[in-house]
This record gives sequence, structure tokens and C-alpha cells, in this order.
Amino acid sequence: MSDSSRTVPPELLPSEDLHPLPMPVINLGHLSLDSATRYRVVDDVAKACRDLGYFQVINHGISQSVMDCALEAASDFFKLPNETKEKFASEDLRRPVRYDTSSKDSISMSRAFLKHYAHPLSEWIQYWPQQPPIYRKYMGKYASEVRMVALQLMEAIVEGLGLGKEYLNEKFHEGSQLLSVNCYAKASQSATTIGLAPHSDYGFLTILLTSCGGLEVVDPSSNIWTRVQQLPHALHVQIGDHMEVLSNGRMKTVVHRALLNPEEARISIASIHGFALHEKVTCAKELVDEENPPKYKESSFSDFLDHLTANMDNKHRNFLESLRMLTGAMVFEKEDRAMVHHHMLKSKVSV
Ligand code: OGA
Ligand code: NI
Repeated sequence: MSDSSRTVPPELLPSEDLHPLPMPVINLGHLSLDSATRYRVVDDVAKACRDLGYFQVINHGISQSVMDCALEAASDFFKLPNETKEKFASEDLRRPVRYDTSSKDSISMSRAFLKHYAHPLSEWIQYWPQQPPIYRKYMGKYASEVRMVALQLMEAIVEGLGLGKEYLNEKFHEGSQLLSVNCYAKASQSATTIGLAPHSDYGFLTILLTSCGGLEVVDPSSNIWTRVQQLPHALHVQIGDHMEVLSNGRMKTVVHRALLNPEEARISIASIHGFALHEKVTCAKELVDEENPPKYKESSFSDFLDHLTANMDNKHRNFLESLRMLTGAMVFEKEDRAMVHHHMLKSKVSV
């Protein structure tokens, strides 16, 4: 897959539902069966990550009631009076909990969000909202269970990259987990239908739980915005910027956006998994050789936060673009790259 296949169409183009989105479904329980079965699932995960960057997981071990309770806790939080929620408002991206009603991108006004860290839970939960009273318990339970899913997936992904199941295992276990809890208003006829502008997530992977449809991704084979159907009981998984870096470009970050649902207000909980704050992510040296020189500079979650803070006003600055190294091979792709860059400028990164 060439880099140009990631071209993002202009951000306000309507989505196409003519072609159903290919959506690989991974049975997570099969990862812990016999080695032949595991091998097949690892292969499916690797293929989905390479070809699409997204897939859904079923049989992931999180009960429907744990998922429903997390969505309910989120929904109840957003129903609180504004002055209660605004106690968490801050311009400082490094605050452990942050509430806001727009992403400073002027087209996300119909979205309210609460972002907070979730791992290690015992360190962060003290900062989480105490209202509604169920919030810490329900969100905490979901956060720790979804982290287990992320760890199993990371093992499968690095194995699928040929790096071995244990690769960076300790760093993933010590890694950060950021929950982005979103509430989108129901679409009204007069307003825009965009709830969250196109962006990619900074981490290795994002696991998304939603109350109803609204997520769209760019289908890499057609470059068209396509609606994601959330399968019953499934979780949606996406590759982020740091996975593109780690895999030295073999896996691509997923540009995605959220549309407002015309039927109902929508809650989503994105769990974003990365290394610890100051741990640098580099291209895996095993995936670097003469033919595949490193494509990206090293960076940490903290570098990403600095990047966002420095580019607060420049809403088009893309984190991954800032990490790209110009190599000899890229000179050949110069024209392609110019076009990709042009389109990538339309997307940004969200934290
Ligand atoms: C995010 C995100 C998608 C959604 O929070 O980073 O992409 O459907 N959310 O809310
Ligand atoms: Ni996102």
C-alpha cells in the first residue's frame, strides 16, 4: 500500500454509503486457544492493520452490562448542570481531567467532552468526577477491562509484525491510557452534521465504544468517508500515529471523524493506549534496513502534548507529518507526497 492511499478527501465531503465498508471481525477469545488458532487470528489482525487500520473485536470478555454502565455514567455526567461540568474546564492539556465543549476547530460545537487518564487507575481516579455518583465505579471498571483488551491486541499486533509476542511488553504494561468521553447533540437541520472534525489519534491504538452510529473512517481502497457500523456487543479498534511510527509505516494511522446522529444524542468512549508520558516511540529497529530506512523521528506522548499546545491556533498542524523524515526513497514519491500532504493538512490530531 503506497503512502498516497491515505489521501483524505476534503473534510466536509458527504460520506458515501454505496459500498459497504469491509470490516474485519476478530474473535479475541481465539487468541488464547491452541497455537494454530492463535496464529490465524494474529494473521487476521495483522492483515486488518496493514490493509485498513481498523477492525472490530467480539468475544472480548467485557460484558454488555459493563459497557452499558460506562455509557450510562458518561451520559449522566453530561446531563449535569454546566457549572458543575465547567469545574473541569481547562486550557492546559496536561491536566488529569479536562472538560470542554468544542475542539477549537469551529466545526465541533455540537460536541462536549471529558478527557482523563485511566492508567494506573489508582493514581488517576481521585481526579475523576464525583458526580454522578456512579461515574468512578462504572467508568473505572470499563477502563480497566478495556485496557486488558488493548494489551492482548498489542501483543497480537507486534507478533503480526514479526517482532514476537513479548516485544515491548513491559512498556505497554507501563503505558498510558487516555479516555476521551464524548457527548454529541442530536443533529438538527440547521446546524452542521460534523460532530468531531477529521483527525487521527496519537497513540498505538484506540478502542471505541459508542451508543449509536456516527463514526466515519476513510476507506483506504476508495479514499471515501465511510460510515462504521458498530456490530452488536463489539468494540471498534483503530491504529493511531504511534503505531504507524513503530511499524515504520507498515501500518497507517486512521483518519476518522464523527457525524451527528439524526435520531439521537450520541455518547462515545475512546480509550487511547500509548507508552508512558516520557517514553519515546521509535521505528522498530527490526523493521528498518537499507531498503526501509526509518521514516519517522522518535517522539513521546509528552512531545505530542507539546506539539498540540504549540499549535493550538494552527488547527491544521498534523503531528505525524511533523515526525516524518525525508529519505531518498521519498524523493521518488515527491509528487504523491505533495498531494498527501495537502490533504493531510485538512486533518489534525486530537487528544
Ligand atoms: C476521539 C474520537 C470518535 C467518536 O475521541 O478521538 O475519534 O465516534 N471519537 O466519538
Ligand atoms: Ni479519535
